[in-house]
Amino acid sequence: MMEIFETKKQLQTHLADLRQAGKKIALVPTMGALHEGHLSLISEAQKVADIVVCSIFVNPTQFNDPKDLEKYPRPIENDIKLLTSAKCDILFMPTVAEMYPADETPWHINLGALDSIWEGEKRPGHFQGVTQVVYKLFMLTLPDVACFGQKDFQQIMVIQKMIDIKQLPVTIHICPIVRSPEGLALSSRNMRLSEADKIKALALYRSLNTIKKGFPQTAIAQLEENAEQVLADEGEITLEYLAICESTTLSPATTIEPGKSYVALLVAWVAGVRLIDNMILS
Ligand code: PAJ
Repeated sequence: MMEIFETKKQLQTHLADLRQAGKKIALVPTMGALHEGHLSLISEAQKVADIVVCSIFVNPTQFNDPKDLEKYPRPIENDIKLLTSAKCDILFMPTVAEMYPADETPWHINLGALDSIWEGEKRPGHFQGVTQVVYKLFMLTLPDVACFGQKDFQQIMVIQKMIDIKQLPVTIHICPIVRSPEGLALSSRNMRLSEADKIKALALYRSLNTIKKGFPQTAIAQLEENAEQVLADEGEITLEYLAICESTTLSPATTIEPGKSYVALLVAWVAGVRLIDNMILS
């Protein structure tokens, strides 16, 4: 039976007992509206730990657009069903007041360039909010391992940076992107797309595949141009950014250097929904 806790105290007491009994703990932080992508994190976590804690918390401090926060789906009954079938051990679903006491001091962590490029630039304050809540969740759970999806590539780098700065004894386990059979990266936001929009959104996957196919023999600028053309040919897709980057810094690549690894990052809007995707190239 999955245990459900809404308070920090209940969670901490329960986990202290498990830790005492020598259990290895994995944390899977989420904002709910769970899909197969989230569930793959749960199953990866089960492989590397004895106890899997999933958190569901729609974290207000990481939303820079209040409308986006308001519109964020919250199908909690269905989420509980999915986690129960996935045999998750513990669900932590706190309220905002439980996570953010009224006298909270402001949070800031120096994430360097990661805070001002790509998602950092487009969503000011987003990664401060993400690290703020993930730090709290780490402190409450004290996990041995925490599972995150490659889907949010920059988010993983940001969390690793926070772990390094705060010297936390947590290992990040990166899980691959789960896609629909046709290739659309699963996302809670896809619930806002019609079936026709979902077909349109497949252009993002085609666009990334175009880059992957031409890599590394084609010049970077040409690869990016080809990928943008795929989106333009589909029509009614607004590109926010598409770039081939060096994977360890996320700085835009101009040439391909041997021994370095690269990732293509893509954000585009389909029918008013912001979709994020990426593909590792080497
Ligand atoms: P959320 O968007 O709910 O995602 C929770 C986790 O699921 C993240 O690690 C994300 O990368 C992973 N995920 C989402 N879609 C995926 C897919 N298609 N395949 C594989 N993994 C996928 O990311 C957040 O929440 C929040 O920022 C959070 C870390 C919980 C902090 O509030």
